Amino acid sequence: MAPAVLKNGSREEETGKKSSFQRETAIFAYKKRVMVQNRVCSLFGIRYPVIQGGMVWCSGWRLAAAVSNAGGLGLIGAGSMHPDTLREHIVKCRAATQKPFGVNIPLMYPQIEEIMQIVTAEKVPVVFTSAGNPKPWTSRLQSAGITVAHVVSGSRFARKAAEAGVDAIVAEGFEAGGHNGREETTTLTLIPQVRAATELPLIAAGGIATGGAMAAVFALGAEGVQVGTRFALTAESSASEAFKQRCITLNEGETFLSLKKVSPTRLIKNDFFLKVQELEERGATADELRELLGRGRAKKGIFEGDLTEGELEIGQIASHIRKILPADEVVRQMMEEYHDTLQRLSGQSFA
Ligand SMILES: Cc1cc2nc3c(=O)[nH]c(=O)nc-3n(C[C@H](O)[C@H](O)[C@H](O)COP(=O)(O)O)c2cc1C
Repeated sequence: MAPAVLKNGSREEETGKKSSFQRETAIFAYKKRVMVQNRVCSLFGIRYPVIQGGMVWCSGWRLAAAVSNAGGLGLIGAGSMHPDTLREHIVKCRAATQKPFGVNIPLMYPQIEEIMQIVTAEKVPVVFTSAGNPKPWTSRLQSAGITVAHVVSGSRFARKAAEAGVDAIVAEGFEAGGHNGREETTTLTLIPQVRAATELPLIAAGGIATGGAMAAVFALGAEGVQVGTRFALTAESSASEAFKQRCITLNEGETFLSLKKVSPTRLIKNDFFLKVQELEERGATADELRELLGRGRAKKGIFEGDLTEGELEIGQIASHIRKILPADEVVRQMMEEYHDTLQRLSGQSFA
């Protein structure tokens, strides 16, 4: 039988040696097997560098466990939980997954001391802090064996977080759902600057809902992505069905940064939003705005599905999402798109 002719024209049976083509193919296959890890994967002990951001009224144990089971890192959002509720969610999450998971703790939380005691006592593997100064908490969490990441909206805050000793940085651009940075820096602008400001493992957030966006921020120096909006709109998210359905009908330009005097928040336009706008135009004080906001506006909108009077927080990228999928399908799709994107781009060099 004639020897097999390989793609590069060499004939393996004649020499008994591996051709350079075969060598390269073997190296590529080897790299594909062993280089699936990066710093973010090793830091958290996860398969894919996809983190589900903590989200008030969306990210309970069900969503966190589903994302962790799919190979990402699921975060329970403590921001909308009483301390006892958080403990319950941690226990349930641990029962639902053998994989690492974490808790997101917004640092302006009123019962912060109690929350910190719970995550340390429960030996939660990972904590993502946000909305505040991580310095008073980082070493205390780390000495309890917890890996700590902190969310920032600018390189100045990234440097401060690095000085506070955090293990990783999440840099979140202005496209993101939830509360935004006052600087209004977009993800594309933010990531390279935070990359230059710190050598810590860097996770990009804001407007990332596909593997293509993941590849884009990796090209800018990120080593992981934190995804909020796309996971808020999955089957396991605890947001109300009415909220999810409203979000998947949004068009481009239908979320707006509001409540700048209190805490800039990206919202969908509704009666509540218009009342905020009216007050802001009249030059209302932060206290007047806080009074209108009252307590439980986000719960009303996101969790209870009051689309008129509730606070409807979601990211710009909602306009790209048209289906409520299970969270594991989102992780699977994102990783497939990521690899397809890398392959597509590798064919585009311009010598
Ligand atoms: C409904 C909603 C609630 C959020 N709540 C929180 C929160 O409690 N704490 C926090 O650090 N980030 C919160 N975020 C931000 C997310 O964790 C994540 O960083 C952000 O959504 C990423 O941008 P994306 O929405 O474009 O994916 C929230 C986002 C959304 C959409």
